[in-house]
Amino acid sequence: PGKSVVPQPPMKLLLGNLGELDSKAPIQSMMRLAREYGGIYKLTLAGKDVHVVSSQELVNELCDESRFVKRISGPLKHIRDFAGDGLFTAYNSEPNWAKAHRLLMPAFGPIGVRSMFDRMVDIADQMFVKWERFGPSGVIDVTDNMTRLALDTIALCAFDVRFNSFYQNEMHPFVAAMGSALEEAGQRGRRPNVVSELMVGTRRRYEADQKMLARIAGQLIVERRADPKGLEKKDLLNVMMNGVDPVTGEKLSDENIRFQLVTFLIAGHETTSGLLSFTCQLLVENPRVMLKAQAIVDEVLGNNMPRVEDLAKLRYIEQILMESLRLWPTAPAFSVKPIEDTLLAGKYPLSSRDTALVLAPSLHRDPAVWGDDAEEFRPERFEPEQAEKLPPNAWKPFGNGVRACIGRAFAMQESQMVISMMLQRFDIMLDDPSYKLEVAETLTIKPHGLLMRARRRGTGG
Ligand code: HEM
Repeated sequence: PGKSVVPQPPMKLLLGNLGELDSKAPIQSMMRLAREYGGIYKLTLAGKDVHVVSSQELVNELCDESRFVKRISGPLKHIRDFAGDGLFTAYNSEPNWAKAHRLLMPAFGPIGVRSMFDRMVDIADQMFVKWERFGPSGVIDVTDNMTRLALDTIALCAFDVRFNSFYQNEMHPFVAAMGSALEEAGQRGRRPNVVSELMVGTRRRYEADQKMLARIAGQLIVERRADPKGLEKKDLLNVMMNGVDPVTGEKLSDENIRFQLVTFLIAGHETTSGLLSFTCQLLVENPRVMLKAQAIVDEVLGNNMPRVEDLAKLRYIEQILMESLRLWPTAPAFSVKPIEDTLLAGKYPLSSRDTALVLAPSLHRDPAVWGDDAEEFRPERFEPEQAEKLPPNAWKPFGNGVRACIGRAFAMQESQMVISMMLQRFDIMLDDPSYKLEVAETLTIKPHGLLMRARRRGTGG
C-alpha cells in the first residue's frame, strides 16, 4: 500500500496555519477543521507540524503504548515553566515522574479517594447553603461557583488548607495567577518564540505569576514542616513529604513537591469546575434527564446527607457526568508521538519528531461510533450494557495509559456527590431562558456567561 498525504489547510507565509486558529478559541477552531478535513489533518504552527486526530479508528492506534507515548509540546512545554517535572508536565524519561507516580497512586486510588469524601461534602455544603440564602431570585454565576468549589476541595483534600472561597468576593490570589499563567502558556504554544520575547509587558506579568505560584506552594511546605502535629495528617502533602519510594528508597525533593502542589491545583480545579458547569447547562437544557436524575436522587438519598456508600446507587448521575465529558471534555486534547517512525492506518507517515494531537470533543462525536444523534445529550449511552459495546478508546476525557489522569476517581467522586446534592436540594433554571451555550477556552474549556437560579425543594439535606 502506498503512503497518503495528510490533508492540510492552505499555509500562509511565516504564520503557517496559525491563521486558522481563533486565538481565543483554538479548540473550537480545530473542531471546525475536523468537520471540514476529517479524522486526521495537519497544521503547521510555530514551524512545527501537528497532526490533529479525531476518528476512533485512528485514535485507537495512537493509544497503543507499545507504539506511541505522551508528547510534551505546545502549551505543556510552557507549563513546565511553573509545573516543572510535576506529574502532568514531566517528560517520560524524567525519574521524578515514575517516583511521584508510585508514591501518589495509592492516595489517588479508590480507598484513598473514599477517605476524602467527608471533606468534599463539607465544601459542597458551603456552596449550597449560600445558594439557599440567595433565595430563588438570586443569580448564580455557575462557573464562578464551581471554580470556587473545586479549588477549595482540592486544597482541603490535598494539603488541608481552607481557601474559604465562598466567604469572600475575590478569589484566592493563586487563582488569578494560575489563570493568567495558563492562558499565556497556551498562547506561547502557538506563537513563535521571538514574538513572545518581544511582548515585554506580557512577559513580565508571566514571570510575576510564576513567582506567585511558587511562593504560595513553597509556603505550604514550610508551614507543614514547622507544625509537628500537621505531620500526622493524612493528606496528599504528607504522603509527599513523608513517603519513601519503594523502588529507589528516596523521598521527593521540596522542589518537586512544590511542582506537584501547583500541578494538583492546575490539573485538578479547572477541569472539575468545567465538568460541573457543563453538566448544569446540559441538565437545564434537557429536562427529561434532570427529572429522571432527580427522582433517582430522591429515592437514594431522601432527606439525608449523602454518604460515600450511596454513590454506587447513583450510577445514573455518573452516566450524566460521562455524557457531559463526552460532549465537552474539559481537558479537550492530549498529545502523543511515535516511539519510532511509523505509518498510521498503514498509510500516514509519522516520525518520532511529529506530534499527534487527540482532539477529544471531535473524537467523542465520531458518527461511526456515536451515531447520528452524537450531538444529543443522552446519558443512557453509558448504561453498562451499552458502554460495553463501545469500540476501544472511543471515550478519552482522562487521557491514555500510564500518563492518564491520576485524579480521575477524585474528580468523579466529587462531581457525582455535588450534582446529586444539587438535585436533591434545588430545582435549577437558567436566569435568561434564551441563553445559548458559549464555550470559553483557556487550556481547558468551560461555559461562558452561564447564569442560573436555584429554588430550594421541599426535600433534602
Ligand atoms: C492528567 C483530564 C481532574 C491531576 C490528565 C490528562 C487528562 C486529564 C486528559 C492527560 C493529559 C495528557 O495526556 O497530557 C482531567 C479531567 C478532570 C481531571 C477531565 C476532571 C473532570 C484531575 C484532578 C487531579 C488531576 C482532580 C488532581 C487532583 C492530574 C495529573 C495528571 C493528569 C497529576 C498527570 C498524570 C501523569 O502524567 O502522570 N488529566 N483531569 N486531574 N491529571 Fe487530570
